[in-house]
Formats: sequence, structure tokens, C-alpha cells
Amino acid sequence: MPLQPIRVRLAAASLLTAATLVTAAATPVGAAPEATAAPQALAAPDIPVASVKAHLAQLQSIATANGGNRAHGRPGYKASLDYVKSKLDAAGFTTSVKQFTSGGRTGYNLVADWPGGDTNQVVMAGAHLDSVTAGPGINDNGSGSAAILETALAVSRAQFKPAKHLRFAWWGAEELGMVGSRNYVNSLATSDRSRISGYLNFDMVGSPNPGYFVYDDDPALEKVFKNFYAGLGIPTEIETEGDGRSDHAPFKSAGIPVGGLFSGADYKKTTAQAQKWGGTAGKAFDACYHASCDTATNIDSTALDHNSDAIAYAVWELAQ
Ligand code: TRP
Ligand code: CA
Ligand code: ZN
Repeated sequence: MPLQPIRVRLAAASLLTAATLVTAAATPVGAAPEATAAPQALAAPDIPVASVKAHLAQLQSIATANGGNRAHGRPGYKASLDYVKSKLDAAGFTTSVKQFTSGGRTGYNLVADWPGGDTNQVVMAGAHLDSVTAGPGINDNGSGSAAILETALAVSRAQFKPAKHLRFAWWGAEELGMVGSRNYVNSLATSDRSRISGYLNFDMVGSPNPGYFVYDDDPALEKVFKNFYAGLGIPTEIETEGDGRSDHAPFKSAGIPVGGLFSGADYKKTTAQAQKWGGTAGKAFDACYHASCDTATNIDSTALDHNSDAIAYAVWELAQ
């Protein structure tokens, strides 16, 4: 046992050191730095865009197998929800399906909690999972749904143990007027609303002629995304196309700080925007918005990749 005497000698030495330091200084200089230093912030992972696109391919298949859409009250919606839920369950999330009625049809929200963290400080990320009836809704909003799903799976892969509590949500019936998200916020007690430190919304993050828009509703949340894009050297603009047009609106109305990203819908990209972001001036950010051509090919992979990485960056930054 050659190691034991060494260990005994080391232990004795550190006891002596500690004893002499008691009177000398309040900080034990001899202690290992990691024992006394503030916990290091962990860096966010790079979200593999191929995995995000694999989720989009699944959502496309689900639409194709269910009459070409994933709309509220249609079988493609529930199949989409079952797909997302099975991934989260396998990754160790605590999932719950919350039912509501709209237009005489049953709708569902899916809420996934990552066990641990301070439940008095909840960081939430959400995306609507329903499409319009006209098409499969891959950019709107398979993109946000797949990006937050892969971020949640990255949380599990990293076995991330943040100080705050993490919650992800997939909303039903957004296309009928943010019905699912409004239903969720209305169902929360005032005390539960005050426990949500921020809600981040992702509705259309892979537009084929993309812009890089950041919600400016809350300066602290806006800054996190702006910092991420500054690091990539990509200029951003304030999201103005649809203030109040997505699931962050009910949260904002309830006094919860909101943030998010958007790559553009039916507005046309200007010449100035094409100069800084590339793509085609005079053409819509998403010419297939709410149309049957919003399929798996209606995605810009680079925008989807950057926005997915930005989501992970924000989740890691805000939860630690
Ligand atoms: N919410 C809209 C939809 O799903 C899309 C949209 C238009 C949007 N403008 C927006 C989303 C601005 C977020 C921000 O059809
Ligand atoms: Ca990536
Ligand atoms: Zn949408």
C-alpha cells in the first residue's frame, strides 16, 4: 500500500496549514481554488442542426400521413405532440399534456419540466406546434418546435444542473389566436406567474429568405440574444413584424418578461436587409407563409442552425 502513507502525510500537512491559517487570514490560501471560487458558468452546447432538421423531417412525415397538415383539432397535431413528448420522456423530462377546447375541437399544450433548479425562478422557452390547415407548417412553426426540442435534449445530454428551473412548452392552437398559450397563462395562479422569470418565444426561426430579428420587449432578455449574434458578427434588427402576434403575448400581458427570435414571415426583405443578411431583396422572408409549400424544403439551414444555437445560449445564460 505505497499510497496510504502519502495520503496520511498530505492530510496531516493540510491540517497544519489550515491551523496556521486560522489566525493568519480568513481565506484558506492553501485550499484548492475550485473549492472556494464562485461556480464557473458553463458554456452552452452547439446544437446540431442535423438533429433539428431530423425533427422537421418527422413533422413533415406526420403531416403527409395526416392529410397534409398538423392543425388544431386534426390528427396531425396530436401525432406531432406524441412525437415531441416521446423524445422528452425518454430524455428524463417530466411532461404533462394540458387539454383545452377551441372551435369545438380538443387542443393540447405540452409542458416539459427539467427536474431540479429553483422553482421560484422558472426560465421558460416555448413554441407553437400547430400548423395552419393549408399545409404542414414546417417553418411556421416546426422550426421553433424542433429548435426548442433539440435544446431540451441538449439539456438532458449535458445533464445540465442550472440554479433556476427550466420549463419547455409546445402550444396548441396558436393559429386560432394564441389559444393554447393564453389558456396556459390563464390557468396559472398569480403566484405561479410571478415565479416565471422569463418566457422566450420561438415562432419561425428557419425562414428561407431569413432575417435576424430579436424581440425588444425586455431589455435583459434582448441583450442575451444580441450578445450571441454579436459573437457571430451577424447584425440583428428589432422584431416589429408581429408585435403581439405570437405566444409571448399572453405572457407579456400577465406581466412576465418576454423575449424571442424571429426570422420573418410575409413581409418583404428590403435591399438594406439583403445587403447585411444576404438572400433576396423584394422577396418575402417566407413566401410559403401559411401556404401548402411550407414544407421541409422551406427552411434556411444556416438560419435554423444559428437560431438553435442562440436558443441554447440563452437557456444556458439565463438559467445559471
Ligand atoms: N404568429 C404568426 C403565425 O404563426 C407568425 C408571425 C408573424 C410572427 N409575425 C410574427 C411570429 C412576429 C412572431 C413574431 O402565423
Ligand atoms: Ca449548431
Ligand atoms: Zn407561427
